[in-house]
Amino acid sequence: MRLTVAIDGPAAAGKGTISKAVAAHFGFAHLDTGLLYRAVGAKVLAGGDPVAVANALDPADLEDEALRTPAVAQAASEVAVIADVRAALVDFQRKFAARADGAVLDGRDIGTVICPDAAAKLFVTASAECRAARRYKELRDKGLDVTPEAVLADVRTRDARDSSRETAPLIPAADAVLIDTSDMTITQAVARAVAVVQAALDRG
Ligand code: CDP
Repeated sequence: MRLTVAIDGPAAAGKGTISKAVAAHFGFAHLDTGLLYRAVGAKVLAGGDPVAVANALDPADLEDEALRTPAVAQAASEVAVIADVRAALVDFQRKFAARADGAVLDGRDIGTVICPDAAAKLFVTASAECRAARRYKELRDKGLDVTPEAVLADVRTRDARDSSRETAPLIPAADAVLIDTSDMTITQAVARAVAVVQAALDRG
């Protein structure tokens, strides 16, 4: 069944984990749209022009594990402020959302700008401290040399930049269901998200 699921929220809120689980549960495809901005950010760190790089982005560019570093996350949120960069990435996201087998897209502006007609919208959040603690563990598990203080500062800086930008700021869509995962296990958060999507499917 074709259905678009929009999952937005601030840095490290658990969108990725929830999106993957929802996509697997319903057999939908999943696009982590943060990777588009991270791929542009990484190429800009390597000397590229943000808008030129965004216009020439190749899906193969998204496969790189090096996109997961804090330096690339910061570069991503810096290029994400540029309206022409965002515009260059719209078509790819909308085409993905229209897939016949159903799609889950996670990011910052999916429910508000990219897919305002999505049948199910979630806004996943958690306290900055919870999010930073989870991201710290994730990065440490990958062997990256990070401190809890630096990760919290990174999360706060990106939240502020993402929320205050003029184009497609991070805000919940009026019709999004809010899920605060601060005191939830992954299993509880996924169950809640699956229930919201199932209700949208039942509505037809
Ligand atoms: O994984 P995490 O939540 O830390 O970040 P991400 O989803 O990979 O996004 C990295 C950065 O890309 C964000 O801080 C945003 O500035 C930007 N982004 C955006 O502007 N719009 C999206 N739809 C997705 C990401």
